[in-house]
Order: sequence, then structure tokens, then C-alpha cells
Amino acid sequence: MTLTAWVNGRFLPLDEATIHIEDRGFQFADGVYEVIACFGGTFLDMDAHLQRLQRSANSINIDLPMTLSELTSLIEQTYNHNPFDDAMIYVQLTRGVAPRAHLPGAELTPTMVITSRHLPMPSAEKISAGVNAITLEDMRWKRCDIKSIALLASVIGKQEAAYRGADETFWLDADGHLLEGCATNCFAAINGALVTHPLDHQVLGGITRRMVLKVAKAHGVSVEERPWKLSESGLTECMMSSTTNAVMPVCHINGEAVGTGKPGQMAIKLRRWLLDEFDKLKRHAR
Ligand code: PDD
Repeated sequence: MTLTAWVNGRFLPLDEATIHIEDRGFQFADGVYEVIACFGGTFLDMDAHLQRLQRSANSINIDLPMTLSELTSLIEQTYNHNPFDDAMIYVQLTRGVAPRAHLPGAELTPTMVITSRHLPMPSAEKISAGVNAITLEDMRWKRCDIKSIALLASVIGKQEAAYRGADETFWLDADGHLLEGCATNCFAAINGALVTHPLDHQVLGGITRRMVLKVAKAHGVSVEERPWKLSESGLTECMMSSTTNAVMPVCHINGEAVGTGKPGQMAIKLRRWLLDEFDKLKRHAR
């Protein structure tokens, strides 16, 4: 199937959907993005994603070239051109095209791209084995709350993880606290509580993270948003969350088993509660 992308006002076959070589996204990574999951035609928490896009754009002084309801409609249209059962919508917004100079001119027209493609779901084997991660000292900038397209550190982190036979790298602050992954938020079960780093400039406010905390609280799990370390006593499990993974148990970190080295009850339950939540959203949308 030929994919159709929306680029600056037009639907085009993916191969013809190109942007200018002087786009500031290309030259400076001067832009922001979102990844939204869509299952059976139901978008997961689209509003929250679009609000985050708006916040990211505002943080770098780019004006969205349309209202959020116009953007919602364009995303729906893009999905209808590429209606995968499990779909991943990618929205990228850059400051626009200009001769290369660090200081952007005032009157640029933002570039916007939307694609919809198949979202590969983690296999049953992967879910039952859990993923492997490594840790590295955080080498990113101090505004990780912005969903910036400048992802070089994440690329390096993923390469290093793959090189070491792992799936994800978790970034550590200078004191050894786990912040988040290259493309995931991370959590631990510590003395029965679900623990994750608080939202600040060192982590992205994941939409899935928010849902995970919500379902955990709804099921009576105590939630602690605080810095945490792998060496803490009472730590029995780790897990990670993202639009593309929902919740995944993380069973080995730096080659060592976390807890029993198998998915634990907290991760299994959170994944089930989250998928139930998705089902509810789907039923509600029908
Ligand atoms: N990444 N932290 C980082 C650094 C991320 O890049 C992501 C998402 C998350 C999880 O956010 P959410 O639950 O809203 O997907 C956390 C997307 C999926 C990506 O870059 O492909």
C-alpha cells in the first residue's frame, strides 16, 4: 500500500511528500513533534497529544498554523487515507523555510507534516519475556519537557542499547536517579508503590505515563512521583511506557535481572488496566 502524507496543505504519496532543503527542521532540528496511537479508528488521547504539541511549539515560539480542531480534522483525514487497524500518527511542525541563519526571521511560515502508518505492536514473546535496558548518564539538553525533533542523544542511546543487546537506554542524572528512556518514561515498583521521576525539565510528560498513573491510582496502587535509583531496597520491578509500547516490563538492566528477572505483578496489571482503558475509549468512540 502506498502511504499518503499531508504536507503543508496537500495530501501526497509518501515518495512525493518532500520539504525544502532550507527547512529549519532539516538544518537546525528547529521543530517539535507528536506520535499518536490509533486503534481501530480510535485515537488515544488525541486532545492531550495536541495540547502537548501546542505547549512544545509555544516553548520555542512557533505558532501552530491552524487551530487544534482543524489539526484534529487533518489528522483524521490523514488516517482515513492510511487506515491501519493499529496506526501511528506522526505530526511534525518546524519553524519553516529560510536561508540558513541561527536567528530565525520573524515572518516564517511553519512547515507541517502528518503521516499515518502501521504501528508495530510488541510481540507476545516480548511482553512475556520483558525488555532489556541499559543506563547511561544523561547527555541531553535541559528542556526534555519539550517534544523536540532534536533527537540525537536518543539515537545514540538506542544505538548503544542495540550494541549491548538491549532495547532501551534509561538516562541517569548526575546522582544516578533514573529519569526516562530514549523514547519511553520509566517506573519502578518499590515496596509496593509505583514510583516514577516527577515532571520537570529532565523528562517528557508522557501521555502514556499520565494514563499509567491514572489507572494505578484508580486501582488503589500508591503512586510516588520522586527521584529513584535502581539500588533502592524494596525495588522489585521496573517498567516503561510510551504511545508505541503501552506498558512494558523491563526485566534486565545492564545485564542484571530486575527482581526475579521476569515480568512482575505490577507491570502485568498496569498493562492489563491500560489496555482495558484503551478498549473503553474504543467502545465510547463507537
Ligand atoms: N516517544 N520520553 C521520551 C523522551 C519520548 O520520546 C517519549 C515518546 C516518551 C513517552 O511519551 P508518550 O507516552 O506520550 O508516547 C517519553 C515517541 C513515542 C517517539 O519519539 O516515537
